[in-house]
Amino acid sequence: MEKGQLLYEGKAKRLYATDEQGILWVEYKDSATAFNGEKKAEIAGKGMLNNKITSLLFEKLQTAGIASHFVKQLSDHEQLVRQVSIIPIEVVARNVVAGSMAKRLGLEEGTVLKQPVVEFYYKDDALGDPLITEDHIQLLGLATPQEVLELREKALKVNEVLIQFFKEVGVQLIDFKIEFGRDDNGAILLADEISPDTCRLWDMETKQKLDKDVFRRDLGNLTDAYELILSKLGGQHS
Ligand code: C5P
Repeated sequence: MEKGQLLYEGKAKRLYATDEQGILWVEYKDSATAFNGEKKAEIAGKGMLNNKITSLLFEKLQTAGIASHFVKQLSDHEQLVRQVSIIPIEVVARNVVAGSMAKRLGLEEGTVLKQPVVEFYYKDDALGDPLITEDHIQLLGLATPQEVLELREKALKVNEVLIQFFKEVGVQLIDFKIEFGRDDNGAILLADEISPDTCRLWDMETKQKLDKDVFRRDLGNLTDAYELILSKLGGQHS
């Protein structure tokens, strides 16, 4: 397969066309950003780690019956995905209070939620990705009511499966953000990435943070944390 022209460059990835219809080539970058791009750094090895972790998690989710855009890992920092039209909604699922939920609701970080909470954010950098309600989603025409239900159900299923994967390797899944896209037939597929950039992952015993909060809050070496996640999941880093 041949890599074609650059279609899109985001904060963490570049997307290229390929010579195969409907298949895109994704390159993971070493850039780290936080607080809507206000904090930035280049961290050697981060792209490779997120590519490997995302590939591994999408494979595990596919085995568990959750379809995604993922086709295959190509190299340390590249993968092939099916082309979808991204729905501009960030779907967040939470099991433990942290981050913006702690701030917004005045709850203590680390409080275990009685049941998972699903939230929707409007994916719009200029607006700072605001929290939105289902009525806002209708108002903005982002998805139909039926699709919103589907996004919520899929997020809860991903949550269930990921909680178990991480638990088996001694990691607590605190929360995560996922994105979905529509394929040519309008079917909704899990898309984008699932990595320590998009999840909060705590060591079950020590509660050590093994995710992007290491970068956001200057808690130490980010690649050490991501490498630990990759090796716990059974992946190898070179
Ligand atoms: O910041 P907040 O607490 O709302 O984040 C919830 C979860 O979603 C965290 O795991 C965070 O890493 C992820 N997230 C993300 N991209 C965003 C916002 C949040 O991956 N733009």
